[in-house]
Amino acid sequence: MRKMLDIDFGSSRYDELVNLRYKVLLEPLGLKFLDKYRPKEAEYLHIGCIEQLDDKLLGGLILVPIDNDEIRMMQVAIAPECQGQGVGHELVNYAIKRAKEAGYTRLVMHAMLSVVGFYEDLGFHQEGDIFEEGGITFARMVKEI
Ligand SMILES: CC(C)(COP(=O)(O)OP(=O)(O)OC[C@H]1O[C@@H](n2cnc3c(N)ncnc32)[C@H](O)[C@@H]1OP(=O)(O)O)[C@@H](O)C(=O)NCCC(=O)NCCS
Repeated sequence: MRKMLDIDFGSSRYDELVNLRYKVLLEPLGLKFLDKYRPKEAEYLHIGCIEQLDDKLLGGLILVPIDNDEIRMMQVAIAPECQGQGVGHELVNYAIKRAKEAGYTRLVMHAMLSVVGFYEDLGFHQEGDIFEEGGITFARMVKEI
């Protein structure tokens, strides 16, 4: 049985999430998780999905406050062996709920073009032109919450 949860910055679960983000998002691009970014992460909301049977972290993401109204979702990562099983949908829906509870009215994110359909399915719409960063093409996606 899966469970969505908030993860405390600096906890062992947070380290587990950083490792998962590295494995899913950074390692394939040959990038490293730089420790200099760690202190900044104290201001973010960290969200995860665990399998309660074995306490394994299946996926996670971070929410980065932009201003009083807007919050940005970043680093959505599902463990490779768990992708395509609905974990991403559950996780993002939980993040939407948490962002709403925290008083934000607009959730934004930059999605790789290959996964735009995944976010449209979750009620996001594309805003503005697509753009390139580090050789990858992204679309800015927005959801009023
Ligand atoms: C993209 C990702 C977050 C989706 O989470 P998930 O748990 O695999 O997705 P779900 O099972 O909830 O939803 C599945 C649907 O999402 C879409 N989808 C999932 N992964 C996709 C991918 N790599 N490319 C295109 N569409 C994808 C498909 O529409 C899929 O539907 P289908 O199974 O009928 O084809 C996850 O696969 C992942 O972490 N991928 C690697 C990292 C990444 O791309 N992160 C997004 C950064 S913007």
